[in-house]
Amino acid sequence: MAGEAQAVREVARRVAAHRQREGAGFIVRRPFPTIGLSYVDPFLLLDEMGPIDYGPGEAVGAPDHPHRGFETVTYVLEGEMEHEDSAGHRGATGPGAVQWMTAGAGVVHSEMPSRRIREAGGRLHGFQVWVNLPARLKLVQPRYQAIVASRVPEARQGGASVRVIAGEALGARGAVQTQLPIDFHDWTLEAGADLTLPSPADRQAVVYVFSGAVGLGAGDSELHEGEMAILGPGDAVRLRGPVRGAAGRALLLAGAPLREPVARFGPFVMNTEAELRQAMVDYQSGRMGEIARTARLD
Ligand code: CO
Repeated sequence: MAGEAQAVREVARRVAAHRQREGAGFIVRRPFPTIGLSYVDPFLLLDEMGPIDYGPGEAVGAPDHPHRGFETVTYVLEGEMEHEDSAGHRGATGPGAVQWMTAGAGVVHSEMPSRRIREAGGRLHGFQVWVNLPARLKLVQPRYQAIVASRVPEARQGGASVRVIAGEALGARGAVQTQLPIDFHDWTLEAGADLTLPSPADRQAVVYVFSGAVGLGAGDSELHEGEMAILGPGDAVRLRGPVRGAAGRALLLAGAPLREPVARFGPFVMNTEAELRQAMVDYQSGRMGEIARTARLD
């Protein structure tokens, strides 16, 4: 029956992310994890990488490192990343493309700006999101889904447009097969855009604004670039563009909370300390494999 009243989710908590230097020296904005917010169940990490303009020889990434117990999602807006892992997957992720890696039982992973950017320099801008896996799926076989930009559907309504990486919006369905239902949307909201989308009530939703300003909720809440909102209960999300000026851009992530204990140490996310210790033993004894590079010509 049409016309059922929707409860619009309001901003329950607002988090500001500041640019910081990470690991080998890449620049990220990280709304979580932080000291005050360790995760937003089922999401464990949200990093905006760059935008940064590298000169020749300057670009850095994350060379060989393990993961177990969750999924890493890389979504590139500008530039190109090269990924390879110990399960034999290897590929480049260019503008608009996605790499959704289910680490599961464990992989060794390398994520680097492309050779072209490392050598000649260039701009890099994108995201990495970590999606937790429930206890029963933590040790699934590793999987790698590479979705080229042309396979990411786009939909438009009024002044709003969306690229759907996972889940569904405006009738478009993302190509990524997720372990549990997850929404991962890249929204562009022109000035004056105003739309309300269904958002299943059992999911936790966050909106991270990475360009301009985006309005949220039934009131006049507005988030600016670098701010994330954890949305409160409801079954709809209302997104608005800025009153005037350049379009706002935001990631919308939603998923059902796992409500399980989270034991986390660097690249391993399990349910218990004993499972973390086992992950370290398995990595150190080579049971997560290594990246085979013997056949490489470069
Ligand atoms: Co990784």
